[in-house]
Amino acid sequence: MAPDDAPIVTLAEGRPVHDPTAATVLRGEKPKGGQLSLLSDTQLIETLAHFPRERIPERVVHAKAAGAWGEFECTHDVSDFTSVAFLSKVGKKTKVLARLSTVAGEKGSSDTTRDIRGFALKMFTEEGNWDFVGNDLPVFFIRDPVKFPSLNRSHKRHPQTNVPDSTMFWDFHNNNQEGVHCLMQLFGGRGIPKSLRNINGFGNHTFKFGKPEDSTFKYVKIHFKPDAGIQNLESDEAVKLAGEEPDYHIKDLYNAIEKGDYPSWTMYFQTMDPKEAETYRWNVFDITRIWPQKDYPLRPIGRLTLNRNPDNHFQDIEQAAFSPSTMVPGIGPSADPMLQARMFSYPDAARYRVGPNYQQLPCNRAQYVYSPYQRDGPMRVDGNYDGDPDYVRSSFHSLRLGPADIAHDEWVGKVTQFSSEVTDEDFEQPRDLWKIFKSNGEDKVFAKNVAAHVGKALPQVQKATIEMFNRVDKEVGEAIQKALDELDSEGGAGIEHSSAPCSKEKKK
Ligand code: HEM
Repeated sequence: MAPDDAPIVTLAEGRPVHDPTAATVLRGEKPKGGQLSLLSDTQLIETLAHFPRERIPERVVHAKAAGAWGEFECTHDVSDFTSVAFLSKVGKKTKVLARLSTVAGEKGSSDTTRDIRGFALKMFTEEGNWDFVGNDLPVFFIRDPVKFPSLNRSHKRHPQTNVPDSTMFWDFHNNNQEGVHCLMQLFGGRGIPKSLRNINGFGNHTFKFGKPEDSTFKYVKIHFKPDAGIQNLESDEAVKLAGEEPDYHIKDLYNAIEKGDYPSWTMYFQTMDPKEAETYRWNVFDITRIWPQKDYPLRPIGRLTLNRNPDNHFQDIEQAAFSPSTMVPGIGPSADPMLQARMFSYPDAARYRVGPNYQQLPCNRAQYVYSPYQRDGPMRVDGNYDGDPDYVRSSFHSLRLGPADIAHDEWVGKVTQFSSEVTDEDFEQPRDLWKIFKSNGEDKVFAKNVAAHVGKALPQVQKATIEMFNRVDKEVGEAIQKALDELDSEGGAGIEHSSAPCSKEKKK
């Protein structure tokens, strides 16, 4: 017998249900026991009809994730260069929603694969939401946004065999070598985190933080560093966990928060004067490059703490929609075509994935919204601005205006084709990284990791990969070749490449 305060189960329309476990049937007389379902059984029809509609499209990238609520606290005074409201006072706290993801795998894939981790935050500030949509590695594979779908397809399933394919993966990178710096990070010791509590979060892009009222700004690179330190898994351990505990990272984050062992990160900025950007040795808008910390040291800004698990994953995390275009007064995009393309792509994805009124859902809704020129649409639930004018410059409705955008700069001039041509300069930072690998013994691990992956690719693709790494340093190519030879003597990398891309063309 249920207690008196137990909920009464109802249909979705509210009608109390007598027995949710039984369908209503028409029982036949002959043959004995025959029964027919009835269309008038609303409970059965509604239950079956809702079930296949439980799914919304999974994110085309970053489909698998853990998420949590938390807070951000400003710990340092930044009033010298920005008036952003959530950084306006030391000690100021802002509510945060976080979603930490893998990139290539689907929603049901294993957590412990070698992949970039997404690090997405939504800060609910008093001047609207600010979304930080970063990754755990400081650089990215491409710098021309038109390549983004190709990059991701080459990391996902082969269109014919429906399995991830090393040939396709390395063929993409061999022919788009601006990604070599990111590849070296991914196949180095940091490619598989031990836990989501031990990963960095990098904004990758250069952003502008400034004071709109003074028309001044600084270029900023954003870093979140885990207070518990960086920790990683060895490949063998990760492969084992992928089989035994495919949700290893999700469970770890959930359990830590449940126990009160709240993960935290310190937020740092690297700041650069716009004048310096004009003559700095690297293009500061190129997302495949870092700003070395010896040139631009880290400046502490605040602390992020995740302290509450979502009550419902679908409602709070799956329906959450993050976008680099979600900025607040005092923050602006730089002249990086990748960033600008992303500013279109994420809201576009959210409108498709969640629906055009996705900003009204509690997980996405800003503290204060008055946006009467965006009306109607499916699933409108916020009052829809009653009878307020739905056209601009109404004589019957006075409105107050917000602050101006932060200053525009002079970087935009002639319209031209963006070039992602690869030059020797693209190999300089990877060369520096190789020196670090050698000094801390990571060089062998890196070579082994690459060999284990590229060893499954077609021989000509393996050769092209070695040639690409030779451009970093002959030693890198040699180290990978040696690791490949060792793998061969042990019987090879395992699974053969499942099929050569463009196999149809070959058959002709
Ligand atoms: C997710 C596009 C580059 C980090 C996504 C999604 C799209 C997308 C369409 C799925 C969004 C959704 O369904 O809600 C792009 C494009 C890029 C790009 C077009 C380049 C032109 C990057 C870079 C980073 C990044 C450089 C990191 C610095 C993320 C993260 C997510 C994501 C963290 C998951 C967000 C979440 O948790 O909902 N991206 N992306 N992306 N992307 Fe990108």
